[in-house]
Amino acid sequence: MSSESTPPERNLALELVRTTEAAAMAAARWMGRGDKIGADQAAVDAMRTVLDGVEMDGTVIIGEGEKDEAPMLYNGERIGNGQPPHTDIAVDPIDGTTLAALGRAGAIAVIAVADRGSMYDPGPAVYMEKIAVGPEGAGIVDIRLPVEKNLSALAKARRKNVQDLNVMVLDRPRHAQIITDIRSTGARITLIPDGDVAGAIATAWPDSGVDMLYGIGGTPEGVIAAAALKSMGGDLQGRLWFRSDEERQSAVDLGYDPDRIIGLDDLVATDNCFFAATGITSGELLRGVRFGTNSITTQSLVMRGRSGTTRLIEATHRPSKLEALYGS
Ligand code: FBP
Repeated sequence: MSSESTPPERNLALELVRTTEAAAMAAARWMGRGDKIGADQAAVDAMRTVLDGVEMDGTVIIGEGEKDEAPMLYNGERIGNGQPPHTDIAVDPIDGTTLAALGRAGAIAVIAVADRGSMYDPGPAVYMEKIAVGPEGAGIVDIRLPVEKNLSALAKARRKNVQDLNVMVLDRPRHAQIITDIRSTGARITLIPDGDVAGAIATAWPDSGVDMLYGIGGTPEGVIAAAALKSMGGDLQGRLWFRSDEERQSAVDLGYDPDRIIGLDDLVATDNCFFAATGITSGELLRGVRFGTNSITTQSLVMRGRSGTTRLIEATHRPSKLEALYGS
């Protein structure tokens, strides 16, 4: 670096990872207890406590629901210590609450932060159709096309046969036709019980063995995954998906175009975005929380959109010291 070059800017994600670590450690105590709500509440409380100390003036765009339903991390809540930067925040203290509650693989705690006004607010739209790919598929897939066309375009870009591709799909009855269509191409499928944020990231993660995420999942998860894919150079396209005509109409009444193709830059309209995730239960992407003698270890991903840097962070926490600092 020359003496005149610009010094690196602050990487907020390196602070945000403390919030996902806290959420993951709290949620991991509930692993396998069969209590989704208890696990989620523990993760929300822990994430919220640490978020208060982060230097930013943040507004929750993707949160735990409206104020009356969620006491913390509700949509519109102001977060941080009120100092610049002014940011939008998307949180999912547990992506995969059922996974955590049943002790199954792949539950993670996630947060994404970006410049104020840059995050897509899905309003009443709970679900969206999604197609996510890694860097080689960026710009070549089109959610309006049949899945077989997208698979053959991706195979060409990745210099593979379609039969070598692995498509991740949420295991849901609504995907019966999509699964049939993918199978008819000869491509391989990984059906996941939950957790399509990790699924979207896997498409851009070297050696994950996942080429594409396809199907209908949560809209909030789409926004969060977009922040990660921006950093990793991948792509995500979506289109709102409605469970009923009433749901569709209420979105239209609020000014949403139900047929609009929502691209990566619509979901997060800036490169100045940050992403952090910590494993709760061990999965393909991240190892889960481990409790040792007087120590807890976590594994996290930290990403910054502008630099495109992804860090894998292993942390050892001392529970007795943490308790002394913050209380239990
Ligand atoms: P939760 O942790 O909020 O339950 O979300 C898990 C998840 O699998 C997401 O990753 C996914 O986008 C969404 O649920 C799919 O929704 P549904 O389970 O209703 O099909």
